[in-house]
Amino acid sequence: MIIAIDGHSSCGKSTIAKTLAKELDFLYVDTGAMYRAVTLYCIQHNLIDTNQVQEEDLRHHMSQISISFQQVENSEFSEQKTYLNGVCVEKEIRGIEVSNQVSVVSTLDFVRQKLVEMQREYAAKNNMVMDGRDIGTVVFPHADYKFFVTASVEVRAQRRYNELIAKGEQVSFEEISANIEKRDFIDSTRKESPLRQADDAIVLDNSAMTRKEQMEWILQRIKI
Ligand code: DC
Repeated sequence: MIIAIDGHSSCGKSTIAKTLAKELDFLYVDTGAMYRAVTLYCIQHNLIDTNQVQEEDLRHHMSQISISFQQVENSEFSEQKTYLNGVCVEKEIRGIEVSNQVSVVSTLDFVRQKLVEMQREYAAKNNMVMDGRDIGTVVFPHADYKFFVTASVEVRAQRRYNELIAKGEQVSFEEISANIEKRDFIDSTRKESPLRQADDAIVLDNSAMTRKEQMEWILQRIKI
């Protein structure tokens, strides 16, 4: 069974997906982490500079990029730790440097092709909750359940700001809000697999919901 959770940046998709995976005992795959890992690789190998990607060089590097996950369980979540070429990069891929450049990397067709192929391979072997932007539209158009999650820009920026400050990053609210608006724009207007709601997706606007309320809302809609 595949449950696709798509939606805007920083709207809590991964919290929903991780909690759902724990609740249902499914594997959780955060596809945003895969685009983030490729972006980190670009930064480490000087293949990106202020949102300009050296496309041809990156194309040649693609076969040297290996992304893997380790599933980690705690009482609330089934989480995932992301590894880039065997090294855990979970912290690095969540920082502002990667966040500011990942949308550009995720517009590249050859990057998307490789990552979508990997995502389909995971599903061949597991019941899965997968979150991203194109899961219900492109990766698994026949997913058993599709949810499209959204919330206002202000609410999303505040949540993200709180998260980064708690991790000790030096960021301003304005910077975060601008990053979210810019990512929304790039994600929904790009040529390759733009962010859009699948026709058969169930929409969840969680601007005014607590985590508990949204989990109740979503679990009411899933029949195993
Ligand atoms: O969910 P996230 O914020 O970690 O995603 C990071 C970026 O990756 C986001 O700007 C859009 C892109 N992305 C994508 O294009 N397709 C996906 N399936 C997942 C993420």
